[in-house]
Amino acid sequence: MLSNRLAGKVALVTGIGSGIGQGCALMFARHGAQVMGCDIDAAAAEATLSAGQAQSLALASVHPCDLTDPEAVRRVVEATVERYGRLDVLVNAAAFGAFAWIHEMDYLSHWKATLTGELDIVFLACKAAWPHLIRRGGSIINFASANAFVALEGSGALAHCAGKGGVLAMTRQLAMEGAPYGLRANTISPAMIVTGATKPVLEIPGFKENVLRKLMLKRLGQPEDVAWCATFLASDESSWITAADFAVDGGATAW
Ligand SMILES: NC(=O)c1ccc[n+]([C@@H]2O[C@H](COP(=O)([O-])OP(=O)(O)OC[C@H]3O[C@@H](n4cnc5c(N)ncnc54)[C@H](O)[C@@H]3O)[C@@H](O)[C@H]2O)c1
Repeated sequence: MLSNRLAGKVALVTGIGSGIGQGCALMFARHGAQVMGCDIDAAAAEATLSAGQAQSLALASVHPCDLTDPEAVRRVVEATVERYGRLDVLVNAAAFGAFAWIHEMDYLSHWKATLTGELDIVFLACKAAWPHLIRRGGSIINFASANAFVALEGSGALAHCAGKGGVLAMTRQLAMEGAPYGLRANTISPAMIVTGATKPVLEIPGFKENVLRKLMLKRLGQPEDVAWCATFLASDESSWITAADFAVDGGATAW
């Protein structure tokens, strides 16, 4: 274990099968949290569990589970509380989006699917976890994106930008509604992080170079870069921080 920064905390991390969710789940457990994960991709979740077991970390998972199904979300939350007795931190890393230019964008398979995969998925988990999170003043960590602030050049990201802007706005409101209970809610807005979602796009000729050109710090982000920020937001070190957004973006949105 790296530290006791999260000792005594129980965290539910969605989307542990890949990228940022995987990075947060493993890092939280390394800092002393008891972590429940979940993912729609059972094999990917199993791989993360194995990585955790190899390091003797307190990490469990419910999988496969489709977090766009309210009943499945309820079961994940119940499994967390049954196993660990409480719930202090919710990290909403599971998401999916469909990318297309507006003239090719289909209403259901692109637009609606993305809003379900980026907005509904966050709402449903927050709603199911809320009664537990407000008991002791928990922490919700949601992922907006640099694309909630700036357009994504070279990509049909219209629905994604709407989804991420929605997460940003929704999290401020969650913070306001949670504050009387001591519940905090914040967003992290990453720029390009190398994950299962972004690896295929980064293969497109010229795309990576374009991303790097926009960064002050000339390297792509890694899931751990985001997980360090999430660890701070999950811990009591951030106990007076709510309704805030943290740019973890190598300076991309600042110039
Ligand atoms: N990677 C980036 O560059 C980047 C940048 C900005 C914001 N973000 C945001 O960070 C979050 C995590 O992104 P990532 O790149 O790690 O994604 P990812 O695609 O690598 O991982 C997401 C995980 O969620 C799971 N998942 C998808 N739909 C699900 C469902 N219905 N039910 C349960 N699990 C489901 C997937 O199986 C996958 O394991 C997302 O909200 C994303 O929009 C990522």
